[in-house]
Amino acid sequence: MSHIRNIVILTGAGVSAESGIDTFRGGGGLWEQHRVEDVATPEAFARDPELVLRFYDMRRAAIQTKEPNAAHRALARLEREWPKKAPGAQVLIVTQNVDDLHERGGALDVLHMHGEHLNAWCNACDARSRWTGPLLHRPPCPACGKAALRPDIVWFGEIPYRMEDIYQALGAADLFVSIGTSGAVYPAAGFVRTARELGLQTLELNLERSQGSAWFHESRLGPATEIVPAWVDELLG
Ligand code: OAD
Repeated sequence: MSHIRNIVILTGAGVSAESGIDTFRGGGGLWEQHRVEDVATPEAFARDPELVLRFYDMRRAAIQTKEPNAAHRALARLEREWPKKAPGAQVLIVTQNVDDLHERGGALDVLHMHGEHLNAWCNACDARSRWTGPLLHRPPCPACGKAALRPDIVWFGEIPYRMEDIYQALGAADLFVSIGTSGAVYPAAGFVRTARELGLQTLELNLERSQGSAWFHESRLGPATEIVPAWVDELLG
């Protein structure tokens, strides 16, 4: 791995699964309990805001009772220590997760491409405010005072955040690693193909083969709390 310098890591719900946060797909997943089109689209919010706000208020409350696990901590260690091992090199953690467990696990710079539960976004003035409580009672925006806050979550049909930054990081990277994601949701699911076109090494760490598994040079299967720390140990030597 001596030729590896810059690393882009994409994480998904599987990284937080062992912290007790439900994944989306598969048996018992969130999308088995709730219809996406009822709670995770702009149309749903326009049609029935109370249902949508209640759903995200529950999720926001739930994540605050969970703790980061060994996978989150290992990735934070890699972010911190990799530049010492490969001077000037960078690790970028891009997550589809809307929890804050990477940060609470010690990561300093996490790109939340699908938004964050702990932010509220004002539809009136566009400000984002840190938000830990409920939104159901339509509280005023701390910036403009209007009752126009929504969860800062990228819903289906909306464009994920900071795509240019992600593609720029992929363009400067040597290794792309996908961790705990099913590869079912684009554009994140397409990063591996971009990485291949750009000539990066690609590695998947997941409980089972993801939908895009065939695109990876290597797949390591197992629970994130075991295979992620093992991979980080290997990389850091
Ligand atoms: P999914 O629920 O689609 O996939 C989770 C993946 O993690 C699956 O491939 C599981 O096999 C794997 N997994 C489960 N437990 C694991 C463990 N302990 N260790 C390692 N892997 C494990 O979640 P995502 O791929 O993150 O978007 O879903 C992508 C997006 O779809 C989400 O960001 C969300 C959802 O709709 C929005 O809400 C905008």
